[in-house]
Amino acid sequence: MRACIIGAGASGVTVAKSLKQRGVDFDWFEKGSALGGLWRYDNDSGTSSAYRSLQIDTSSRSLAYPDFSVPGDWPAYLRASQVLEYLEGYAAEFGIADACQTSTEVTAVEPASGRWAVTTDRYGAREYDAVIVANGHLSVPRRPQFPGTFSGQELHSHDYRTPESFSGKNVVVVGMGNSGCDIAVDLARVAGQVYLSTRRSAWILPKYLLGVPTDRWSALFTRRLRLPTPVARNLVKMLARVAVGPQERFGVPKPAHPIHREHATIGQELLQYVAYDWIRVRPDIASLDGGEVRFADGTSTSADVVIYATGYDPSFPFLPADLVAQAERGGRLYRRIVHPDAPGLYFAGLVQPVGPTIPLVEIQGRWIARALAGDVPLPDEAAQAQEIAAHRRWVRANFVNSERYRLEVDYRTYVGQLERDMAA
Ligand SMILES: Cc1cc2nc3c(=O)[nH]c(=O)nc-3n(C[C@H](O)[C@H](O)[C@H](O)COP(=O)(O)OP(=O)(O)OC[C@H]3O[C@@H](n4cnc5c(N)ncnc54)[C@H](O)[C@@H]3O)c2cc1C
Ligand SMILES: NC(=O)c1ccc[n+]([C@@H]2O[C@H](COP(=O)([O-])OP(=O)(O)OC[C@H]3O[C@@H](n4cnc5c(N)ncnc54)[C@H](OP(=O)(O)O)[C@@H]3O)[C@@H](O)[C@H]2O)c1
Repeated sequence: MRACIIGAGASGVTVAKSLKQRGVDFDWFEKGSALGGLWRYDNDSGTSSAYRSLQIDTSSRSLAYPDFSVPGDWPAYLRASQVLEYLEGYAAEFGIADACQTSTEVTAVEPASGRWAVTTDRYGAREYDAVIVANGHLSVPRRPQFPGTFSGQELHSHDYRTPESFSGKNVVVVGMGNSGCDIAVDLARVAGQVYLSTRRSAWILPKYLLGVPTDRWSALFTRRLRLPTPVARNLVKMLARVAVGPQERFGVPKPAHPIHREHATIGQELLQYVAYDWIRVRPDIASLDGGEVRFADGTSTSADVVIYATGYDPSFPFLPADLVAQAERGGRLYRRIVHPDAPGLYFAGLVQPVGPTIPLVEIQGRWIARALAGDVPLPDEAAQAQEIAAHRRWVRANFVNSERYRLEVDYRTYVGQLERDMAA
């Protein structure tokens, strides 16, 4: 068994660790000149969507891989540079840092008589029994199309770094996910006026509730008290309403959908900044007209800049076209990992959990290593298809109908499935 890992972000690093621990031989390629992926600011791979002020929204205890703690004297919420330092420490601890062949881009992955031919820009083609794709899914901008044309500057959150160049300008930020909220807050002190446009609003949770990181409350409800995730999320929402107050009183509309049907939006400053009128919340954009942005409620504003914080599309430019569609809709993978039509093709980190991603991928990594070692048998085609269909039904039934929810998994349920597979 010889495997190939593509990508050395938080996902690739932990997959490499598990393969090494399980004695699976592997090559490991990273396009950038060093490991770290998204958390390496201005990564020369061009894939990082991190801005200078990025502060992780998962607290240190929830963020850590299960086998490597975040140092106890680090803050509850890490800066991106600290997450990078943590990843580097992890790679050093498990002796894998030197295994990564950096500045090496995988350009093609093709089936080759039961094996896989992986072509890189440095070494040409090599054959492997398995390929683990860990190339990240938050690098390729998803850009909406609105009627009309805009004469000012347009950019996607992927390309946003610092607020200085927007000083004094009127900026419309589109999208109320974590990127949109962070960027609106980042700009608020220097821009002329910031507008935050949202088509359905979002439930805004602070980073701390009663002095405790908000996700520790979620962990208490789901992991200690074993409450179902929707119940836990509603309890956190109620706590926030008591501790902070209803968000509509600050000027952020109350969403029509329940909190457990969306991805969490977490930010300590947004509600205050809206209350100060530093950020004005507006509905969806109806049209763009030269220097004017018109909103769905009939209001409009002149704007210098529109920033699309409208999310990302998974992308696998190195895979054959017939395999890509299945992979781009991550829910169509068995256990969100295994390509059902391509034995030996695995994906790591292609999930959007209700909960932290990094520790979840550690479990995926161990699962993959065991599957490669033959200790996690894969079910037959029909059973895989059934599992995929059941997961897709769960996503459709539980989340808002938006492109944003293609890769959702419930942390606790998913961990349970993977752990049970490994125990069996
Ligand atoms: C702004 C932002 C904030 C986030 N905050 C949180 C948070 O608070 N908590 C949380 O749990 N998650 C957060 N996430 C999610 C985050 O994406 C995951 O936690 C995790 O870090 C993703 O790691 P990854 O390795 O899958 O992807 P990445 O970090 O993107 O790494 C993928 C790597 O693959 C490499 N690569 C890509 N294509 C190729 C190729 N063809 N050949 C070779 N190498 C290639 C890239 O260069 C990159 O180094 C955040 C995401 C974003 C965008
Ligand atoms: N501080 C942090 O830790 C931090 C910061 C940034 C990002 N992240 C993480 O990174 C990931 C990506 O976050 P993201 O905010 O970049 O993307 P996202 O979660 O996909 O959010 C995209 C936002 O854009 C909106 N949108 C998409 N298409 C639209 C359209 N055509 N018209 C109007 N609105 C549209 C979405 O609205 P709908 O809901 O209506 O679809 C949503 O509000 C998430 O996992 C997030 O948690 C974390």
